[in-house]
Amino acid sequence: MAQRDILIVDDDRQVRDVLHQIFLSAGYNCLLANDGREGLEVFRAARPPLTVTDLKMPAMTGIELLQKVRETDGDAAVIVLTGAADVKTAIDSLKLGAYDFIMKPVNVDELLIAAERALERRQLLIERREYHELLERRVVEATRDLASAYKELQETYRSTLEALGSALDTRDVGTEAHSRRVHGYALATAREHGVAERDQPDLAHGVLLHDIGKIGIPDAILLKPGPLTPEEWTIMRRHPEIGRALIEKIPFLRGAVPIVWSHHEKWDGTGYPRGLKGAEIPLGARIFMVVDAFDAMTFDRPYSKAKPVDVAKAEIRRCAGTHFDPVVVESFFRVPEALLEEIRRRSVEP
Ligand SMILES: [Fe+2]
Repeated sequence: MAQRDILIVDDDRQVRDVLHQIFLSAGYNCLLANDGREGLEVFRAARPPLTVTDLKMPAMTGIELLQKVRETDGDAAVIVLTGAADVKTAIDSLKLGAYDFIMKPVNVDELLIAAERALERRQLLIERREYHELLERRVVEATRDLASAYKELQETYRSTLEALGSALDTRDVGTEAHSRRVHGYALATAREHGVAERDQPDLAHGVLLHDIGKIGIPDAILLKPGPLTPEEWTIMRRHPEIGRALIEKIPFLRGAVPIVWSHHEKWDGTGYPRGLKGAEIPLGARIFMVVDAFDAMTFDRPYSKAKPVDVAKAEIRRCAGTHFDPVVVESFFRVPEALLEEIRRRSVEP
């Protein structure tokens, strides 16, 4: 059995022969060497699981052999044989990775027990390491599975939101592309404004869902072609509150609440539903106000023709400080024209 190969290294031929006989009769397959150097050659060629070596030998000592063997194969079991004068070296050998040391003259039973024990311990260490590696692989796999499930979940959230956002859009403004453009402008402005990367998903969700409360507005009002009566406006203006009530109980949408609830607030406090003023209005809502107005002006709507970009920007500048947060307006103006154009181009109706 290959696992019971043993390498015996001793420069004393008599001792070597005795050891050979002992291990042979105990069922081991023995490899023999005269000194450390030869021992190392045999070891490298045959990789026996167990080596029994004398300490004092010419050419290469048992300690050197032990070190080289352990360097070659960290699982190799080595037992050191030592005379009474060499006990200190034998103890040192344990620190270098020897499994055991046996005093000469050798007691046969003691030697065989030490050999069996060394092989068992070696096997145990190998199994423990393999088990550990298996666990590590499992952890890596589980982590990977979890990451991919999480990614899938995020993807599902995102597509659900987009579908919901465009369904809302189609019912109201009429184009899904509007939603995509505003989303693109809002993120570009947020970056210019220094909004942290981690806060951007909430902003994106808020932008997509800003008018979700219109679900609660009757079609007769929402789709009315002519101007609304004051009573109808009162109903229409409930949509931010309705939206907030709809999504605040959904954990992954909670971050969108500030925009849904506050996207009709104005910088000077004349907006609704709460009449918030200045920095009381959540930043996401202030960003949304600017980019939504820009998109409304630069695209044809049922009730108004598109204005050129510079006219729309001039109008936004005029309303900075009344409708809009002036600092957000500056951030929006820093978004390069080319990027705005790219967002418009990519948001074309499929
Ligand atoms: Fe709205």
